[in-house]
Amino acid sequence: MSATATAVNPTGIASIGLHFPALSLPVEELAELRGQDPDKYRVGLGCEEMSICPPDVSVVELATEAARRALSRWGGSKERIGMIAVGTETAVDMSRPLSAWVADRLGLSGAIRSYEVKHACYGGTLAVRQAAEWRLSGAARDQAALVVAADVAMYEEGDPGEPTQGAGGVAMVIDEPRIARIDPVSYPWSEPQFDFWRPVGENYPRVDGPLSLDCYKRAAENCFKAMIGQRDPEVVLRELAAICFHVPFPKMVRKAFYRVGEFLDLNAERIDGFFQEKIYPTMMWNRLCGNAYTASLWISVARALKGLAAGERVAAFSYGSGFGAELMMLEAGPDAAAGAWEQDVETDFRDRERIDARGYSELRESRS
Ligand code: HMG
Repeated sequence: MSATATAVNPTGIASIGLHFPALSLPVEELAELRGQDPDKYRVGLGCEEMSICPPDVSVVELATEAARRALSRWGGSKERIGMIAVGTETAVDMSRPLSAWVADRLGLSGAIRSYEVKHACYGGTLAVRQAAEWRLSGAARDQAALVVAADVAMYEEGDPGEPTQGAGGVAMVIDEPRIARIDPVSYPWSEPQFDFWRPVGENYPRVDGPLSLDCYKRAAENCFKAMIGQRDPEVVLRELAAICFHVPFPKMVRKAFYRVGEFLDLNAERIDGFFQEKIYPTMMWNRLCGNAYTASLWISVARALKGLAAGERVAAFSYGSGFGAELMMLEAGPDAAAGAWEQDVETDFRDRERIDARGYSELRESRS
């Protein structure tokens, strides 16, 4: 090989770290506060609990701690990190990227490409794709990327989106595919829409709820259609160990998969069978943290990969308002079975404090 030729690196997720804030609110408490039937939140939306940040914790702490955990588990040297890409829609500055805060706190500087990626909840997935494609192109040489997806989702008090709030961060080192190989080919779909957006200077998003549901379902249908192509959908879906989705609230995922299943001509029983077996279990951690925007899909992927045997395959559907979507395919590597990152979730969920309706109101009051 000539001195300038590049070699394609085996590429995938080498390490995972997660972090959730120290408070949580059961949706029943919010239902009481807003005078709603708790079943509207529990059954109608499929939500259980939402992660809430204490006053001194922001997206910076969520992203940094998730990254610190991923790096500590990785085993590689910090000198090999050549890219830090952070996907978020909770930006703390219009110019300085969140990656600079993370890099500063973790002592990462030098020959590193460092930046923030924005496309609503899709930003984290774009960061993963860019990191993977950077390695696959050969441009990375032997360097690895640190990718973080972190967000704090808050709606205006009383907004229909309030029960879907949440917070959390996921970080991944994209390097050798010890946990999962990332397929080079993926299936994107985008359409310019105003389904959910937050104008500059406003604290809370504006949402066209029904439109957002339609956009999400249309994106899922088109991405799965492209992935399945001319193959038998039954066979393709059966071969997947898990199918992960962006989880704004669990019922959304069910609605979207029904749309996909109907499009693929599966009957209701088969759709339900696939949903219960391959999708519902992947949302176990999401149900306990709410919508963490960019992190949501990757929380589900982390849950799905834990315990898989090498070679088992996972589909990961990303959706971000505006809107952009992409379906990625992953294949479990030798370290997926041990699922070391589960201890982050166990620790954070075990140690967090449950607040009640009054505590939540006081917290919001102190923020405003
Ligand atoms: P809503 O006003 O609560 O809607 O808003 P609803 O009145 O239609 O009720 C919701 C469900 O609860 C319905 O079920 C009701 O029947 C049921 P469905 O008919 O849809 O199956 N229900 C009950 N069930 C049991 N017992 C009861 C009861 N009462 C009613 N007593 C909406 C819902 C999703 C619009 C709202 O939560 C919202 O605006 N959320 C934010 C937007 C969102 O999450 N959209 C999802 C797709 S967009 C996306 O994923 C991107 C996002 O993550 C942002 C980003 O990309 O950055 C949001």
